[in-house]
Amino acid sequence: MDQGNFEFLRGFLKGRSGLVLTPDKVYLVETRLLPLARRHGLDGVDEIISKLRTSGGSDFAVEITEAMTTNESLFFRDGTPFTIFSEKILPELIKRRADTKKFRIWCAACSSGQEPYSLSMLISDRKKDITGWAPEIIATDISHDILERAKKGSFTQLETQRGLPIQRLIDHFVQDGEYWKLNKDIIDLVKFEYFNLLDSVDGLGKFDVVFCRNVLIYFDIETKKQVLDKISSILAPDGVILLGGSESVFGISDSFAPIEGVRGIYCKQDCQDSLAG
Ligand SMILES: C[S@@+](CC[C@H](N)C(=O)[O-])C[C@H]1O[C@@H](n2cnc3c(N)ncnc32)[C@H](O)[C@@H]1O
Repeated sequence: MDQGNFEFLRGFLKGRSGLVLTPDKVYLVETRLLPLARRHGLDGVDEIISKLRTSGGSDFAVEITEAMTTNESLFFRDGTPFTIFSEKILPELIKRRADTKKFRIWCAACSSGQEPYSLSMLISDRKKDITGWAPEIIATDISHDILERAKKGSFTQLETQRGLPIQRLIDHFVQDGEYWKLNKDIIDLVKFEYFNLLDSVDGLGKFDVVFCRNVLIYFDIETKKQVLDKISSILAPDGVILLGGSESVFGISDSFAPIEGVRGIYCKQDCQDSLAG
């Protein structure tokens, strides 16, 4: 791949989605963009970048951005954050929001939907405690394609085998040919929307819990800081943020307080009493 084209793509992706392409990622670019080049009847990756260079902010730019995102996701990913959500965060929320009977959760890079749907299943476990409440899960992503898939709530056998306990498959899904379709009540709790984490969060409203998992790893420190500070600005004072297994706020943002004995989960203010241990 031509070095000039690689550098152009690096700048384009950094500006558009925050993705940092290190110089060793030529192979990744080729794997991701070659199928797209073929679909457009182009010979290879250099041709596709040349087309990007001349076409500016077209649909083509969207396709390249989406092709370069990593959409890997699974139900109840890493286990512990979801156990803590179910056993500590959610019961605390039900206590604290008893007056308004409302709470809002944001999955800030939701990919194909396994993360928000895992939360929807956990909230559904508590439906007797929250009759008449209006919980909301807002699930956003930069990829239109992945959001369209996520909205369907339909997963392959392989996807349901990754992280989903068999009892949950029985309780919340019905088989639909080669796919497993989630029940309507689980789908209906989640609202999917396009949102680029580089954009202003002003229109999103306030949230009680934010899952921002396995997306900051693709950004540089400055972008991570900007995203974390924006999340802090729309998180309730007693709100909680959950990051991915290899992500942290340390050395990046002072907006959050760690919870003793718990990795990757932070409060906006001190929340040791309710969540520690
Ligand atoms: C690896 S997936 C993580 C999915 C899920 N949070 C999880 O942990 O399983 C990363 C997602 O981040 C999305 N993404 C990448 N850059 C983004 C941006 N600037 N704004 C919003 N979403 C972005 C990608 O489209 C992808 O779906």
